This record gives sequence, C-alpha cells and structure tokens, in this order.
Amino acid sequence: MSVITTTERGQIALIQIDNPPVNATSIDVRRGLQEAFRAAMSNDAIRAVVLACKGNTFVAGADIKEFGKPPQDPHLSEVINEIELSSKPVVAAIHGTALGGGMELALGCHYRVADSKARLGLPETTLGVIPGAGGIARLMRLAPPELAVDMFATGKLITSSEAVSAGVVDEMVSGEVVEAAIALAARLLLDNLAIRRCRELPVRTSEPSLFSEMRERLKRSHRSQVAPQAVVDLAQATQGEDFDTSIAAARVRFRELVISEQAKGMRNAFFAERVATQPSELPRVDHGVRDAGVVGAGTMGTGIAMCFLNAGIHVDLVEQDEKVLFASVETIRKNYRREVEKGRLTEPTMNARMELLQPTLTYDSLSSCDLVIEAVFEDMQVKKDVLARIESVVRPDAIVATNTSYLNIDEIAMACQAPERIVGMHFFSPAHIMRLLENVRARHSSPQVLGRIQSLGKKLGKVPVMVGVSDGFVGNRMLSKRARECYFMLEEGAMPEQVDRVLYEFGFPMGQFQMNDLAGLDVAWRNRQSRIDRITKRELECNILDELIESKRFGQKSGAGFYRYDEQRNRTTDPEVTQLILRNRDRRGLVRREIDDQEILERCLFAMINEGARILEEGVASRPEEIDTIWINGYGFPKYRGGPMFYADHIGLRIVVERIRHYGSQVGSVFWTPAPLLERLADVDGGFYSR
Ligand code: 3HC
Ligand code: NAI
Repeated sequence: MSVITTTERGQIALIQIDNPPVNATSIDVRRGLQEAFRAAMSNDAIRAVVLACKGNTFVAGADIKEFGKPPQDPHLSEVINEIELSSKPVVAAIHGTALGGGMELALGCHYRVADSKARLGLPETTLGVIPGAGGIARLMRLAPPELAVDMFATGKLITSSEAVSAGVVDEMVSGEVVEAAIALAARLLLDNLAIRRCRELPVRTSEPSLFSEMRERLKRSHRSQVAPQAVVDLAQATQGEDFDTSIAAARVRFRELVISEQAKGMRNAFFAERVATQPSELPRVDHGVRDAGVVGAGTMGTGIAMCFLNAGIHVDLVEQDEKVLFASVETIRKNYRREVEKGRLTEPTMNARMELLQPTLTYDSLSSCDLVIEAVFEDMQVKKDVLARIESVVRPDAIVATNTSYLNIDEIAMACQAPERIVGMHFFSPAHIMRLLENVRARHSSPQVLGRIQSLGKKLGKVPVMVGVSDGFVGNRMLSKRARECYFMLEEGAMPEQVDRVLYEFGFPMGQFQMNDLAGLDVAWRNRQSRIDRITKRELECNILDELIESKRFGQKSGAGFYRYDEQRNRTTDPEVTQLILRNRDRRGLVRREIDDQEILERCLFAMINEGARILEEGVASRPEEIDTIWINGYGFPKYRGGPMFYADHIGLRIVVERIRHYGSQVGSVFWTPAPLLERLADVDGGFYSR
C-alpha cells in the first residue's frame, strides 16, 4: 500500500501521508511526496494543494531508524524546498504533533492550519542532532527569535494557540482540520492571495544578547551536550547569511552530529524507553483506576497521592497519625499553590485536584478503590499487617501495591489472601516529580494486574519499567554497588570532592556523596543497619558513614554531611570531614594512596555494569533497555551516553571484563568478579544489546 495518496477535491489536490505509527518521513514518504507534488504541479486542473496526514498525527519527524545509515535521496530538505518553491499555494493541515522534520515540512508549506489540540516543535536536540531540513532558517524568519531559539535549543513544544500568536500557524480550528485547510486553499484561490514563502522573508532581528544568554543557560541545563550549542550557533549565523547558505550549513552540521557518540546515546535512550515501558510479554490493557487509595501519608505517600491527583484520579489518603495527615494535605496544597504562583497551574485546576483528595484516618473508604498502594514504614511486619488490613476491605478485583524500597515482595505477597493481585510500585522521591517508576512483578502477580500497572504508570506521566523482585530491584541494587566502591575509595585515599567531581564530569547531575547528603545520611545509615548482618567484613569495617552520623551530620537537612551547607543549601568542602576521613584511615592503619580519576570512574561504572549483567542473567530485568531507562530516568545517568549497559557495549565488554579482573586483584575478588553473562558476551565479542 502506498504511503502517499492524492485525492482531487475540485481544483485542490489533497496529498496525504499514511506511514504509521507517527508518519515519519521515511524514504518512501520522501519519494512519494516528491512524486505527488510534481504530479500536482504538472496537472493543469489542480490550482492548490493541501498536505495532511492520516492516523493519529501529522508527521512527527524524520525516521529515527534511518539515522546513522547511509543517506538515501531525496533528502527531506530537498523535498521541502521543492514544496516551498511550487507555484501553486500549499496549505498544511496539522493535527497531533508536528515535530522535527514534520514541523519543517509544515514550515515549507505556504500556509498552516492546525487543530486546536495540536502541538509543534523541533525536538531534534533531544536526539543529539539539530533541525536539518530547513527548520532553523525558516523559523528564524517566521517566529519571534526568542521563541525560535528556545524551541531549537531545548526542544520545547508549543500549542496551536501559541503557534498562532507567534505567527507560525495561520488558523486554528477545533473541528475537521483537513476540511478547514481545503476551505483556506479555496479562499486563497478565490481571493487570489499571494503565496507566502518563509525563504522570502527577512530574518527577524533579535537582541544581540539572545544567543550568548542562551549559550550560558544551556551550559547549565544541557551541560556537555553538543547539539543545543550547535543549534544556537546556526541560529545566530542566519542573521548574517542568505537562506540557501543557512540551509546548507544546517544539513552539513546535521550529518556530522547524527553519527556522533552523543546522538547514538540519545537515540538509544529514546528507543530503550519505548521498549522498556511497553514490555511485549504483558497484555496491553486499560489500568481501570478511577479511585486510588494511598496508605501512609509520609514523604512518599504525600508525593504518590499528588501523582494520582495530577492525573485526575480520586485519592483516599489513609494515615494513622492525625497530625501527619493534616501536614500531608497542607504540603499538597502548598505545592499546588506554588505552581499557581509560578503560572504553571490555574486556580480552578488546583481546586479541582484538591477536591479529588479524601484524607482519612480509617481504612473503610478503601472499599471503593480500584488500587491501593501502601507507603508505610519500611518494616516487614508493619507492611504485612497493613496489607492484611487493606485486603480485608478492598474489592476482590482491586490491585494492592507496595512502595517498599528493599523488602522482599514475594514474602509480603505470600502473607496475603490473594497474592496474584500484589505488586510493587516503587516510586522515587520526590514522587510527584521523579519520572521513574519501577513496577515490580512478584512471583504470583497476574499478567493482567501487571499490564494494568504499566498502563497506570503511563497515565501518571511516569516512565514505568517492569522489574522482578530483588534486593533494591534494579536501580538501587546497582547503586549500592557503586556506593560500596565510593566508600572504599574514601578509605583508600580519595576524598568526597574528587569522587563527586569525577561523576559530575562524566555527566551525572551530582556525585555519590552529594546524593547521599541530599537524600539524608540517616536514610543511608538506616539502610546499612538493616543489612548489617549480611554485609562483608570489609564493608562492616568501612564505617565512615557511622562516624558522620555519630557527629550528627545527617546531610543537607542538618546543614552538614559530607559537605557543609549554608541556609540556601550552598555546598562547601568541610575540613572537619577531611579530618574525620584521615583519622578513620590512621586509626585503622590503612595506607593512603593517590587514586586517579580514571580509577574512580571505572570503579563506579564497572561495579554498576557488572551488577547490571547479574540482574539481566537472573531475569530481574529482561532487557538492557530496562536497565538503561531506569538509570537515565531515575539516577541522572547522562542520556547522551545511552545508559550504563549501552555505554558498556560502547567501551567493549572485553575491556570491561579485563578491568573488573584488574580490580579483583586490587580490591578483592569478593567484590570484583566478572558476572558470568558479562564474561560469556565478552568472549564472543558480543554486547548486551546484541545478545
Ligand atoms: N522515527 C521513527 N519511529 C518513531 C519516531 C520517529 N521520528 N517517533 C516515534 N516513533 C515510533 C516509536 O519508536 C514507537 O514505536 P514502537 O511502537 O515500535 O515502540 C511508535 O513510533 C510510537 O511512539 P511513542 O510510543 O513514543 O508514542 P507516543 O504517542 O507516546 O508519542 C511522539 C508520539 C510524541 C511522536 C513521540 O514518539 C516522539 O516524541 N517522537 C520523536 C519525535 C522527534 O524527536 N522528532 C524529531 C526527529 S529528528 C528529525 O526530524 C530530524 C530532521 O530535522 C531532519
Ligand atoms: P515516612 O516515615 O515519611 O512515612 C510513613 C508513614 O506511614 C508515616 O506517616 C506513618 O505514620 C504512616 N503509617 C505507618 N503505619 C501506618 C498504618 N498502619 N496505617 C496508616 N499509616 C501508617 O516514610 P517514607 O519515606 O514515606 O517511606 C514510606 C515507604 O516508601 C517505605 O517503604 C520506604 O522504603 C519507601 N520509599 C521511600 C523512599 C524515600 O526516598 N523516602 C523512596 C522510595 C520508597
């Protein structure tokens, strides 16, 4: 079946793209479009063209699957140029999302009509590339430069009404967009209106500081990323060059960037997220959650309740302590109030959300819930008791979930009446902000229930990844190995600032010790205590954390942890911590040595990767995509490096194994023995992604 169809509507040719799922401009589309436009131009009966798409969306971009492969003619840029230069008026009819090459295609048309729910944007930099088909040169002529540069650089999308205000869209309709576009084309003919080509407009002038300010902003928001800076350079250059020069320059830069390591990493992150959040083995079902129960209104329960409220789902929030319950409701209200003050939320929406919240001190109201999630204290017996109480009131078809961080959900489920409906939903703190959600399948969870919580995760705006039961599931389990090495390195000669700097320079938003300070050293310490009878002798003796807690250093919240913090939580190195670490080493007779940055990085990353291999082998994660999605979305692994397992493939698994063996001889094989899967893959020069 052809991906392009042309239908004659009187003197107007309706050219439609039908390339599911998102009408990407694959080679067939580009060729088909070129042919269809040439045919329309040479057909004397046709006086105007409407370009539209079938399915859910206008073109959502170039076909990312073609990236990095040898280019095939015609290039999208050429097709768009031809459309723009055509002598008959062309109107784009936009619905869904016009993204990347899709928006560029729409900009090449002479007029644009958009559905009121449509969104437009140039998100290429989120894939490590830049708009390569004329988007920069055209938008710099059409839209206010501040908006255009923001859109290129950050990938920000705009709504139809914003596009109308910016002069990017000519007409917004709430009904049939194709019919509206045909009507506009007919009016153009009737009134003999001129063809408007972006290329014929002058570049809009901007404040000279626009570009330098954006570069500075991007240094912070998109640290180390090449594409956002490149796009600002290209946008600035449009100011002094002609249209064709700008178009050619963008094409050259696109070609360079599309094969860069950063673009490969970003593409992996994009596809991995789609694979990880839609596991093929689970049924695609509706979540069916209209009424949710949250038990425990502490830190996590409060945030989880907000997730449901934000998604328009009614919440019964159950707490045992009246004061805590009151404080939780106030926190939720305060958070929304702040959003209203920042203009991100309207007052009526805030009120509507608050009305969906039903705080209570009893479990009775849970009888109407489709799903109940507990977020009470991290204690096996408390969890079992709470789940028994929940089960005694909920309907037989209700899902019962636990937000436990580390407890064995199989054990929790075995104590329940109906283990098939027991699952984990591991939210990350702050739950209403963090996008990652580890959904946990317990041994007896039914596929239907698992399918429902995956779908619920998406409804909540999360990145839900299904994982198996394991100590710390996937994310925290790998993190604990990295943390172990970081603490060992403090004993061996590194200081917190050095370790954190290395991780930061690699691209993490913060290092291990900064993260510990943020989350609270008491939390890390309690976690250590809960497993103290299971850890190795060396880990037991590595007691710097215990000493920090003894000196009442709980992290940011107490003004001191690994670092010292002022009222604004600005961080400075604390000589007291340096002394504490040095004294700890002396007392224990440890010999200090210089640890170079490469060793720090390798020990952090390879400890994680090795554990990731075990996680895959045990089936706790089914695919490397799941691990990478978890680390990118929950722990700030730099997206442009594609995730830890992708990064390992990039380094080469033979090298990873060799370095793990090296650290085995240095630190001890208890901690450093290559995972069997890693060894097997390395032996055949394989990778996690090419298993
Ligand atoms: N190329 C190829 N496949 C794409 C694609 C693209 N541009 N965009 C989406 N897909 C695929 C997805 O991989 C997924 O496939 P699957 O079902 O096999 O997993 C399917 O389309 C549906 O995608 P989503 O699951 O993401 O569906 P949503 O409805 O949640 O989101 C979307 C739709 C908003 C379009 C989202 O997919 C998206 O943001 N896509 C990327 C858009 C983009 O970045 N475009 C710019 C591309 S670069 C470019 O155009 C260069 C140009 O300047 C030359
Ligand atoms: P918290 O101590 O802030 O909140 C727990 C709340 O549960 C308290 O308000 C307590 O009064 C309430 N509670 C206890 N027993 C109850 C009962 N029988 N009925 C009703 N309410 C009861 O704890 P936090 O940090 O919110 O953690 C909750 C759970 O979430 C734990 O399992 C924890 O491991 C997990 N978790 C915590 C994360 C974090 O960063 N804090 C991250 C992810 C998961």
